[in-house]
Amino acid sequence: MTQSNVRAAFERHFHGSGALYASAGRINLIGEHTDYNGGFVFPGAVDCGITAMIRLNGTDRVRAYAVDLDAYAEFGLREEDKPAESWARYIFGVCREIQKRGGGIGGFDAAFSGDVPLGAGMSSSAALESAFAFALDDLFGLGLDKFELARIGQSTEHNYCGVKCGIMDQFASVFGRKGCLMRLDCRSMEFEYFPFAPESHKLVLLDTVVKHELVGSPYNRRRESCERAAEALGQEFLRGATMERLDAVRNKLSDEDYRRARFVIGEERRVLDVCDALQRGDYATVGERMYATHEGLSKDYEVSCEELDFLVGVARECGVAGARMMGGGFGGCTINLVANDRYDDFIAAARKRFGERFGHEPKVYPVVISDGAHKIG
Ligand code: GLA
Repeated sequence: MTQSNVRAAFERHFHGSGALYASAGRINLIGEHTDYNGGFVFPGAVDCGITAMIRLNGTDRVRAYAVDLDAYAEFGLREEDKPAESWARYIFGVCREIQKRGGGIGGFDAAFSGDVPLGAGMSSSAALESAFAFALDDLFGLGLDKFELARIGQSTEHNYCGVKCGIMDQFASVFGRKGCLMRLDCRSMEFEYFPFAPESHKLVLLDTVVKHELVGSPYNRRRESCERAAEALGQEFLRGATMERLDAVRNKLSDEDYRRARFVIGEERRVLDVCDALQRGDYATVGERMYATHEGLSKDYEVSCEELDFLVGVARECGVAGARMMGGGFGGCTINLVANDRYDDFIAAARKRFGERFGHEPKVYPVVISDGAHKIG
């Protein structure tokens, strides 16, 4: 569907056709707000993402058509050519970041479409960045390694979109593999694939369909809190800190910074616990850690919201093994690990009770762990 739409749109706008590329959104089982603290994350790519058709046009200009928005943008490849449209800045940013790394690129025509739900915390923007980074590397024969492609997306967020994000989303979007979660150490950048296909449980996302636009940049402010706490500890990152050491410097920190750091320190341990538990098929422990993560994200990190807390509460009452908010926060989805025999009842209860409380039903996305960025043909 998406592929044929993109193909048709390209044909309409630019005539002829080009090469087709795809990339993915992501889930994260556990390890939230740990990436920019040099900690562990445990994401996987999913079966929704961005499909882009691209063809070099022999000029120094980029012409891009966003199928879903029915919007067109055109820009040059120099810094002063930054486009006004926010969606086009992702593509512009990727081009600029490639150029900053010495990659020689020229103009191209592109049409793209995506099916990552926007604002759901599933990284639609990382999917867009990695689709273009992957495609431009391929089309211009740049020979960039996959980590560099992920960093190009991350730097695009930092330098062109104002979000000082970590590496998790772009990493997952580039490295994702069908049927596997990936544990990434964001300090050493070592990672391992973990096949994840439990027979007894399913993963499902419930989308609150709310996105709370908060004043300022709450994500960046969380990061700054962590940086202050790390500095008080005399460390580059919070990674590797202990609660004992944090308590020892508590008087140097605001209560808020202390609680942010307390969450991150606990979360680092929980990721490792979950990986161990998965090896044993111990889903009770996996789920219990997910609830603990939610508690920390809600109370200490303060990135949850009423709707997310409500859905996690419903999960608990329905005997769901584990549930928590997922992603950066302030809206978006919960991720739920549900035993097969409780699945239907849980989904029905979540729809009904959320609907009664908030006036609309949550959206339900069963998780299918899929491949990351690749060329379709
Ligand atoms: C967003 C960021 C990621 C990560 C998560 C929270 O998705 O882009 O780098 O920090 O929030 O875990």
